[in-house]
Amino acid sequence: MDSRDADLLSLGVLVSGRGTNLQAILDGCEAGRIPAQVKVVISNRPGALALDRAAAKGVPAFVVEPRQYGKWPARKPAYERRLVEILSSHGVELVVLAGYDRLVGETLLQAFPMKVINIHPSLLPAFPGLGAQKQALDYGVKVAGATVFFVDLSVDGGPIIIQGACEVCQDDTAESLSGRILEIEHRILPEAINLIAQGRVKVKGRKVEILTAPVKD
Ligand code: GRF
Repeated sequence: MDSRDADLLSLGVLVSGRGTNLQAILDGCEAGRIPAQVKVVISNRPGALALDRAAAKGVPAFVVEPRQYGKWPARKPAYERRLVEILSSHGVELVVLAGYDRLVGETLLQAFPMKVINIHPSLLPAFPGLGAQKQALDYGVKVAGATVFFVDLSVDGGPIIIQGACEVCQDDTAESLSGRILEIEHRILPEAINLIAQGRVKVKGRKVEILTAPVKD
């Protein structure tokens, strides 16, 4: 570890799929735009492209499959205990859900209180859950976007850190709108991590304040 590493926030990133948000984080850290480093990547799905992206940067990557921990409940404690074991053993300080397709349970949140963030492809609280971009199109909204928030036990309902918006065009399909929203995601997720790493994010109940100077706690 070089001396600069001690000043970097240690990240653990949970993924399920292609991992373009993970890539944005890895690139931001590597370029020095985010004072953080990805210590470990965990996928709940074997074969996820995100695992190759981690490997390409020399970041340790693990597959932990929930089904190996029984059939029920959805937020399985034994499965999450294994996640916590891996995250803790890599010194993770902030857990980033980047296209992670499972609900998070108490086991993970108790181990990392207000230290788990997620990105969602809508302007929350509109269109939580699956298929957010199609939900937005079907509803007929004129503005869509993405949200980074602190995870709690609700579905996409935790305190909001940053949002980014784009116009919905008349001829948009779910694919074209998803593509524009994805560009926003790649900007605001690294930006949220950057603010947290700089100690500029303060949670007050439901509200998140972005400070101009770091918080000393
Ligand atoms: C993103 O749209 C994210 O908001 C959603 O799943 C997608 C993941 O994309 N939760 P990627 O795996 O980061 O490319």
